Amino acid sequence: MDKKDIIIVGIESSCDDTSAAVLCNDVLLSNVIASQKVHERYGGVVPELASRAHQQNIIPVVDTAIKQAGVRQKDISAIAFTRGPGLLGSLLVGVSFAKGWATARNIPMIEINHLQAHVLAHYIREPNVDKQIPTFPFLCLLVSGGNSQIILVKSHKEMEVIGQTIDDAAGEAFDKCAKVMGLPYPGGPMIDRMAKTGNPRAFTFSKPHIADYNYSFSGLKTSFLYLLRDHKKENPNFIEENKSDLCASLQTTIIDILMDKLLQAANDLQINEIAVAGGVSANSELRAAFAEYAKKYGWNIHIPPFAFTTDNAAMVAMSGYFKYMEQEFCPMDVAPFARITC
Ligand code: KG4
Repeated sequence: MDKKDIIIVGIESSCDDTSAAVLCNDVLLSNVIASQKVHERYGGVVPELASRAHQQNIIPVVDTAIKQAGVRQKDISAIAFTRGPGLLGSLLVGVSFAKGWATARNIPMIEINHLQAHVLAHYIREPNVDKQIPTFPFLCLLVSGGNSQIILVKSHKEMEVIGQTIDDAAGEAFDKCAKVMGLPYPGGPMIDRMAKTGNPRAFTFSKPHIADYNYSFSGLKTSFLYLLRDHKKENPNFIEENKSDLCASLQTTIIDILMDKLLQAANDLQINEIAVAGGVSANSELRAAFAEYAKKYGWNIHIPPFAFTTDNAAMVAMSGYFKYMEQEFCPMDVAPFARITC
């Protein structure tokens, strides 16, 4: 390690994953994630349980990340942490830890917007992995459990949300529809798996007619619920007998909705540099749709490795590196925000 190397520790605690990562310049040295199983039995994240679990996890997770990275604490240049958006109690744990650490080691703190971090995950370099990074300007489809947005990324700092959901997020639609089928939380990965053996044209659902580049998924959720209710009246085993077809049809509808608006934005803005980020970007059909559109419309696509799709601190450390280069630090009285946009 060179004296001039910039070592950033990233902390992520916005929802139900406690994560810490260490970056040397723009190269990732470690990325440790402790997921919280405690929420499974409730079918969704319970905020109070999440913050308690973060408190238990944060020190061992940071300790492991630093050990795995093989850096000395005295070489750490700054600590970057997710300030928001997210669950306030969860964010408080990461923010408070960052403050304590920064004070103890006398190093600067860097606040990070969780949504921007998902976008900047595309710039993480892993040792011995060659990959193309997006060039500016590019469009990023950010799809997670809490957000569905189309972001015009003009630089590392300048991002404009040009479209977003007016109600539920795409991940929420996956999770809520999974729940009514009796699938465990989070339902997105399970629907993805079951859809592989189903017929995507078995059932049709109405698609929203929303202005501009905005999304809506609450109507789809309701029409899915009504379809199950009506069929169950005739056949109580309807869900069990049609699970794969239901999953495949629902998934195809969600992906069509996402891709239609993204294509519209790409055409209107004449941008063919297109990225995807967030938990739902792990979806196999969404990834296949990106590959198909790349061929059909000449898009240059950027799909993150699976490890950087869901919440992780590597993307926080990466964002922290860009801010460190501009000496953009935050004061000690910084407070977390539950809601902020990109
Ligand atoms: O970004 P993320 O880890 O967390 C936040 O929203 O903060 O995203 C989680 C979301 C969940 O809704 C989950 O069901 C969804 O990502 N997800 C998927 C897949 N993997 C995760 N949705 C569809 N297909 C997947 N393979």
